Amino acid sequence: MDVRIFDTKEQAAQDAFKVIEKAKKDGAKTFGLATGSTPEPLYDVIRESDLDFTDSVALNLDEYAGLDSSDPQSYAYFMKKNLFDAKPFKETHIPNGLAEDSDAETKRYDEIIANNPIDVQVLGIGPNGHIGFNEPGTSFDVTTRLVDLTPETIDANKRFFDSEEEVPRQAFSMGIKTILQSDLIILLAFGANKAKAVKGMIEGPVTEEVPASVLQQHDNVIVYLDADAASQLEK
Ligand code: GLP
Repeated sequence: MDVRIFDTKEQAAQDAFKVIEKAKKDGAKTFGLATGSTPEPLYDVIRESDLDFTDSVALNLDEYAGLDSSDPQSYAYFMKKNLFDAKPFKETHIPNGLAEDSDAETKRYDEIIANNPIDVQVLGIGPNGHIGFNEPGTSFDVTTRLVDLTPETIDANKRFFDSEEEVPRQAFSMGIKTILQSDLIILLAFGANKAKAVKGMIEGPVTEEVPASVLQQHDNVIVYLDADAASQLEK
């Protein structure tokens, strides 16, 4: 893993942007994208840049079950507001949170991914070490599916909702197997509440209990941290 530690998340985002810019120049066409507060500074830099994505495909990692794409809490809405409105892509894809047949929806999404192999995957990390919504205990061998969120994730994400009761209990998520198929993975983590997960991801054993630790097995991962997120690293 190429671990890069910066004073601020804005500086980290600038560097991550340069990596994306170079990947694009080298031919990357399909971008796996993440939501949450962590990638916001990166999307700020992309929005303000001249980089053109009209030849590119965006595939989002996950979406809450039960939320319509027009719901301000949905990840579809987040992406539109934080990136796609200002920076149009040729195609954007995200699981349909309102799908009634979850098996058909996960199959549909996996087919889209199979037709658009991901060149660059942007990731955040949950305080419990999840990537996408692949919670601790998830097999490394899964593709897209409907996930039950853990109480820890519901608690971590309630800050985006009016109350904890409003946080959806399930989400569609790309699987770990899918994430690992990307050529390049850029994971960002900022703040002290990510320090434990970051330590497990980088210095801990590869274990399903810390889903992000599987990234140790991928040969092209760049991890962007601020000092707080890096504070428990020993090496
Ligand atoms: C959410 C998302 C993840 C994200 C993580 C961290 O649950 N499913 O993709 O990386 O939690 O969110 P944040 O960046 O807001 O801390």
